[in-house]
Amino acid sequence: MLSKFLIPRQIRAFSLQKINQTGSKKLDYESKNLTKQLVQRIKIGGPLTVAEYMKEVLTHPAGGYYMHKDVFGEQGDFITSPEITQMFGEMLAVWFLNEWQKLGSPVPLQFVELGPGRGTLSNDILNVFGHLKALHRASLHLVEVSPALSDIQAKRLCKQVTPISESKVYREGIYKAGIPVKWYNQMQDVPKGFSMFIAHEFFDALPIHKFHKTYQGFREVLIDLDPNVDSPKPHFRYVLAKNKTPMSKYLVSKNENRDHIEVSPDSIFIIENICKRLVECGGIALFCDYGHNGDGTDTFRAFKKHVQVNPLENPGSSDLTADVDFSMIKQVVENVGGVIPYGPISQREFLLKVGLECRFKNLLGSLTDKEHIRNLTASYEMLTRDDKMGKRFKFFAIFPETLRKILDKFPVVGF
Ligand SMILES: C[S@@+](CC[C@H](N)C(=O)[O-])C[C@H]1O[C@@H](n2cnc3c(N)ncnc32)[C@H](O)[C@@H]1O
Repeated sequence: MLSKFLIPRQIRAFSLQKINQTGSKKLDYESKNLTKQLVQRIKIGGPLTVAEYMKEVLTHPAGGYYMHKDVFGEQGDFITSPEITQMFGEMLAVWFLNEWQKLGSPVPLQFVELGPGRGTLSNDILNVFGHLKALHRASLHLVEVSPALSDIQAKRLCKQVTPISESKVYREGIYKAGIPVKWYNQMQDVPKGFSMFIAHEFFDALPIHKFHKTYQGFREVLIDLDPNVDSPKPHFRYVLAKNKTPMSKYLVSKNENRDHIEVSPDSIFIIENICKRLVECGGIALFCDYGHNGDGTDTFRAFKKHVQVNPLENPGSSDLTADVDFSMIKQVVENVGGVIPYGPISQREFLLKVGLECRFKNLLGSLTDKEHIRNLTASYEMLTRDDKMGKRFKFFAIFPETLRKILDKFPVVGF
């Protein structure tokens, strides 16, 4: 398994019930419906870009992979660090609070999570904030496109929830510790203000364009119907655009020396937006994802039930993902200007520098049950070992340039 992980048993004392799980027959129907729509689009308009395909397959309101079900954990298709152990969220909370205090603990404080999944990471982070009395004049803002996952987030995080339809906010609630929570479909709709931004395994889910080097230069990889398969069920295949596409002209650098590249304009747009907000309103951004530093090539893949599968088979039934290009993120940050990039560094390095080992040993010392000890140790190893999530997952932070003097004197922890 390449990059989405399953551990045999979770350390979490509780396990979230599947909430609002749609029946599998309905999901099969939705998946077939989505396939029909993709076929129609190709028949009418020609092959799709990989970005168009990825967007439809993941977030189409009818059959999109994320839109109707809980996809995480042993019963789902993959597991993420916050779902493995609460130590992960605790470490991130300690990091955010430490950096925030250096800046004089500005309020009001917006905590913004992009792609919050089950809401576990925000919950673990805000729990620590609450214990350390840091929720005074705070609010939580969740950027989530999936109605099903936003239901799960609301149930996990809120004591009270109200759906709203006429504004950019599509749902409102009150977090257990009393602060307001709001949901948005897109990052641009989050109000401006001093913010802590967290994106964990978010950018890997955003659509990518793929380009392949040919004798005529880079050509975009497209998805077409396969006429060679004689079956009533449609089959998709990759083809190369005959000529340059607008995206191949715009997104491929003249100095590119790889044979195959992937670029996510949606990620670029969101990162630019975050940088501009950091300059205008102040704040801190932390991105955690698996990725490379400008040397990755063909990383587009799909996961179903913890196994890697063909991204072009049964669209909508498996998770599509591509490694995040951190060198591209750094370039975008530098181009916007007025902000300072930190990283990327490995997850192992970040978590150990922030104090994970100490927290692990403390927790270990409080356990007597052998199975709990085994589970806790397995979680710690899963997060930190180079052959598990320790090396492939990277951390990247952004701070406003105006803080340079403070950060030179008190360097950002973990980087
Ligand atoms: C791989 S999951 C990660 C979940 C969570 N951060 C974690 O690590 O457990 C991706 C999350 O991003 C959301 N998502 C995907 N595409 C999105 C988009 N274009 N806008 C907002 N949310 C999106 C998904 O619904 C899901 O909540």
